[in-house]
Amino acid sequence: MQKFGFEDLLQLLAKLKHIFNELHYVIVRVIAEGGMGIVYEAEQRGSGQFVKRVAIKLIREEFSRIKEFRANFVGEARLVADLIHTNIVQTYHLGEISGQYFMTMEYVDGITLEDFLERHRATGQAVPVDLAVFIISRICRGLSHAHQRCDSQGRNLGIVHRDVNPRNIMLAREGDVKLTDFGIAKAFDLMYNEEGDVIAGKDEYLSPEQARREVTDARADLFCCTILLSEMLLGENIFEADDELSTRRNILELAIPDFAERRPDIDDKLNGILQHGFQRDRDARYQSAQAMLMALEVFLYGDCYGPTNEKLAVYMGDLFGSDGGNAAERWSAGKTPGLVQNTSF
Ligand SMILES: Nc1ncnc2c1ncn2[C@@H]1O[C@H](COP(=O)(O)OP(=O)(O)OP(=O)(O)O)[C@@H](O)[C@H]1O
Ligand SMILES: [Mg+2]
Repeated sequence: MQKFGFEDLLQLLAKLKHIFNELHYVIVRVIAEGGMGIVYEAEQRGSGQFVKRVAIKLIREEFSRIKEFRANFVGEARLVADLIHTNIVQTYHLGEISGQYFMTMEYVDGITLEDFLERHRATGQAVPVDLAVFIISRICRGLSHAHQRCDSQGRNLGIVHRDVNPRNIMLAREGDVKLTDFGIAKAFDLMYNEEGDVIAGKDEYLSPEQARREVTDARADLFCCTILLSEMLLGENIFEADDELSTRRNILELAIPDFAERRPDIDDKLNGILQHGFQRDRDARYQSAQAMLMALEVFLYGDCYGPTNEKLAVYMGDLFGSDGGNAAERWSAGKTPGLVQNTSF
């Protein structure tokens, strides 16, 4: 019998530390061609009959070629790799084939928010108010998760989406709402084209800070969420004009309408939420996605709305906090810290 020596043991441990394996994808079909590249439906093949359906975004060669883009893209991909949340399309892998980057992500069987809006337009219907609010509340939920992500030392990573638009929101057949393309806009934002212009997000979905080319923080995404909410409610983007310049000017200056006047089933509360989200001064806007989410949930479910994922999360925070022994009592009394109990927005 052969002896199992120390060297063998070391080799075995080394093997357990690193598992190298070639990834194998089979392209099934082209889903769509976007500005940044082509999105495919693909199958990730494993041992035996293992097959996992994924989406692959192959970044256009002309972008992959730019050194600055590559650095930004890879840097951002690193940050978003750990964003694991029901309301965010998960990134599984970042790879490169002959100098061209590709990202493997969760495949979403469904439609985009653009398709959803388009279908309403084509059939002459308005998106139901509560569903519009619900969709945006889910987006705020995903954003809140991303905005709060910290590194291992507890420092906030400063993740901002910067391109919250109807094509980057997917509605899965089962009714899940998912935000996609995290990190990509930032990689683009930091780049300049040959004319020296910044290649940024879609003009009609920019926050005033982005339209002024200022440094953005998480609150920029909340202005964009408000644009989407108002677009779903009115069937049009109030800022969109014929040309880029006028659209940007509208984002900075257009008088925000009274939405309750524009659509009879928008009440003062919802109008208040929209006005708050549309504050051009970001200090006057919702200060966090969590705050906007709470306002939308309170609007949907009222003062006495039942448990939701958010409420359970707040309760868990209290339960494992310094005075966790009294968390249940506080919950019953409606005194859990961080729980919004009234309809203030
Ligand atoms: N994870 C996914 N699962 C299924 N389909 C997806 C997924 N991601 C994107 N798609 C589809 O591919 C389309 C193109 O996406 P892509 O992000 O490349 O372009 P875009 O969002 O339309 O524009 P932009 O390039 O400005 O982001 C989307 O509109 C959607 O229909
Ligand atoms: Mg996209």
